Parts: sequence; structure tokens; C-alpha cells
Amino acid sequence: MLNNKPIGIFDSGYGGLTVFRSILKQMPGYDYIYLGDTARAPYGNRSFQTIHQYTWECVQWLFSQGCPLIILACNTASAKALRTIQQRDLKQVDPTKRVLGVIRPTAEVIGNYTKTNAIGVLGTRGTVQSGSYVIETGHFFPDVKVYQQACPLWVPIIENGEHDKPGADYFVKKYLDQLLSQSGDVDTILLGCTHYPLLQQKISENLPANIRVVSQGDIVAESLVDYLRRHPEMDNGLTKNATQRFYTTTDDTPDFDHYAEIFFSAPVESAFAEIKC
Ligand code: DGL
Repeated sequence: MLNNKPIGIFDSGYGGLTVFRSILKQMPGYDYIYLGDTARAPYGNRSFQTIHQYTWECVQWLFSQGCPLIILACNTASAKALRTIQQRDLKQVDPTKRVLGVIRPTAEVIGNYTKTNAIGVLGTRGTVQSGSYVIETGHFFPDVKVYQQACPLWVPIIENGEHDKPGADYFVKKYLDQLLSQSGDVDTILLGCTHYPLLQQKISENLPANIRVVSQGDIVAESLVDYLRRHPEMDNGLTKNATQRFYTTTDDTPDFDHYAEIFFSAPVESAFAEIKC
């Protein structure tokens, strides 16, 4: 393991596992380390400073495990922390390392899904307040209008295993109604939080049939494949023994494993990661 150069995948909690499972499907031969900062999740309602501090601490921990490349499989961290990490922190620590997010690769393609040029984005309060999807989508698809809706209760519902229970329906409908009241033109809804695929069935049940729901896992996975094709120097530096390790910042690892398996759709056996604050 010592000479392993895995790809690091990070999320505030379990949500990034929905991205990890797509990445693994497309790139099964690589080594991976997943880190969920479950002890401090959710990030969605936290301040810019706190999200940056927590994310950077977790990124440094993944570097200490040998990762040359890290995917922030978390929209909130991508919106609030990625730019500072890329433009300031990495330069100070190790400019050869790379940290990539999930918002830009999604914005690069999301305009291809809409026929009406009207997209709805559902995300955490942090992601919505950052305006990242409006700004990034505007770069690639200037004619596409982006309507946003924060869904602050969805991550707590999901992290507590209530996503498939009848009580979740009320909050699913509430935020969808708020989004759709902004425009009658929306024909595509992006799940702009990596936790939300767990609510996808309830979301689809509460939407008219003409509205398509898009989740990010496959989009991010395809973008990573493309990135490594364009950056052979990074690809050659990654080890490929098809190993997967899982870490959580909560010391109750069996509890993490129980929920993680739902997100990952496969068995998970995690270890405790002690993040130095
Ligand atoms: N999964 C994270 C995202 O994509 C959010 C979870 C949280 O609020 O911590 O934004």
C-alpha cells in the first residue's frame, strides 16, 4: 500500500459515493481512497471559511495517503473551496498535485440536455448561494437560463436514512414546487448535490413526465476519463491495482458502512481517519 498512488475521492459524507460508483464502473483498474467527513457533515449550510477549512484539511489528509489527484465529489466543496485550493493552497504545498471538482464538468454538458433552454438546479444552500452553476453554465451555454432551488433539508433526510420513507415526500414536493414556480419552461432538472440521487425516484414521481432528471455520477466519470487521456503525466503516476479503501472521520465505522453501502450499491468496509484540525 505504501507505494500506492490512488485517486482520492472526497465528500462531506456519503454523497460522493454516488460519483465514486460511476467512476469505478468506467475506470475499474485504478486504486482509490474515498474519504467522507461524516463527523462534520452536512457542509451545505456552513460558511465559506468553514467549508474551505474542512475541505482543505481533508484534501491534505488524502495527500498524506499518497493521492496525486483528488476529486471533490461534493458540489458544496466544489463551489466554496475549490478555487482557493487550486489558486492558492496547492501552490504553497505541492503544485504537482491536482484537485478537481464536479461543477465545471457538469456545466460543460448540462446545456445539451435541454430543448427549452431552461434548466433547474437543485443543490445545498451553499451551492445555490455561490451562483456557481449559473456562472459556469453561462460560460458554455450562454442561451440557457438556470433556475436554482436550495433544498436544505434533503441532505439531513438522506444522511439519516429517511430518503425512502413517506415523510420525505413532503419535503421533496415542497422544493420541487418552489423550483417549478420560478418558470414553466424547465424541461431538465440537475441534481446538483451528490446526495440527491438517493431521492431520484421520489423526485421523478413528483414531476411532470416531460421533465428529465439528470444526476452527475456518469458525467463526472466521463470527464475524469477524458482528463486522464489529456494528462498522461498524471495518468502514468497513478497506480492501477484495482484497490478501493474507504475512510470516515466518524469513529463509528460500522454505522458509516451501513449507510455507505446504500450510496455505493456494494459492500463497504471503512476505517477511521483522524483529521488534524
Ligand atoms: N454531497 C454534497 C454536495 O454535493 C453536500 C452535502 C452536504 O451538505 O454536506 O453538495
